Amino acid sequence: GGEDDLVVRPPVVTVMGHVDHGKTKLLDALRDANVVAGEAGGITQHIGAYQVHTEVDGNDRRITFIDTPGHEAFTSMRARGAQATDIAVLVVAADDGVMPQTVEALNHAKAANVPIVVAVNKIDKEAADPTKVRGQLSEYGLVPEEYGGDAMFVDVSAKAGLNLDKLLEAIVLTADASLDLRANPVQDAQGLVIEAHLDRGRGPVATVLVQRGTLRVGDSIVAGPAHGRVRAMLDEHGNELTEADPARPAMVLGLSSVPGAGQNFLVVEDDRMARQIAEKREARERAAMQAKRRV
Ligand code: GTP
Ligand code: NA
Ligand code: MG
Repeated sequence: GGEDDLVVRPPVVTVMGHVDHGKTKLLDALRDANVVAGEAGGITQHIGAYQVHTEVDGNDRRITFIDTPGHEAFTSMRARGAQATDIAVLVVAADDGVMPQTVEALNHAKAANVPIVVAVNKIDKEAADPTKVRGQLSEYGLVPEEYGGDAMFVDVSAKAGLNLDKLLEAIVLTADASLDLRANPVQDAQGLVIEAHLDRGRGPVATVLVQRGTLRVGDSIVAGPAHGRVRAMLDEHGNELTEADPARPAMVLGLSSVPGAGQNFLVVEDDRMARQIAEKREARERAAMQAKRRV
């Protein structure tokens, strides 16, 4: 696993912004606009991370998106999101303007040294004032290119599906201008749990982002205090995947329990090793919790 094994990977983009400014709606619109006609897929429900394809200058380009909640209780998730990300898309509703979690998200992205693309959303609304949003963000040092700054602003409507291609293009241009995106697909996979839940039929389901290596069905993995063998993987359309390469999000089935969002996962030698590491992690978490209770 040296320099030679590095290959170009898609940018990982975290969508951030104030509560109800349209992050999830925008992600759903981008994904749905991207469903290839005739594609065999299951029911598309919202998932917290997925990949889209877009064409820029005649080249097929992939972008990985991760959703984050805007509610103020999720500060630590936004901080972690900014760490795992290459580019932040800051969603600002054009009728509401800059709000507290807009500023907080902006600060996390700055602290993580992540370039920001601004999606000025809800421009279909009567009260939309995208110029005001540009002025407000300029005061926080995020100056639009058209005002002589270096941030790309794109006016969009997630609801009406306006300018979604422009937003994708701005993301690709920002990635090409400022990032060296390479990863090693050869080694055992490592990455991050984006979200996880208990499904009544399928058991624990974790959406993971592969950051290094390639994750395969049959791999033994540890995810936070959970462990197991990857029984199946699904993409954002419910299609089965046999493997997931760097920057690819996948829904993983086969874990023993539900890991927490933001926890790491890694592939290990075999099931026994996975169980041992998971048990150690669980014991550590339990000890930390007891220590907290004593304080
Ligand atoms: P949190 O995850 O709770 O922070 O919210 P969010 O930013 O993900 O917002 P969400 O996508 O849930 O949208 C909030 C509301 O705004 C929903 O009722 C959406 O239908 C609406 N909405 C989102 N985008 C648009 C838009 O472009 N135009 C209009 N008119 N409404 C929108
Ligand atoms: Na919402
Ligand atoms: Mg949301």
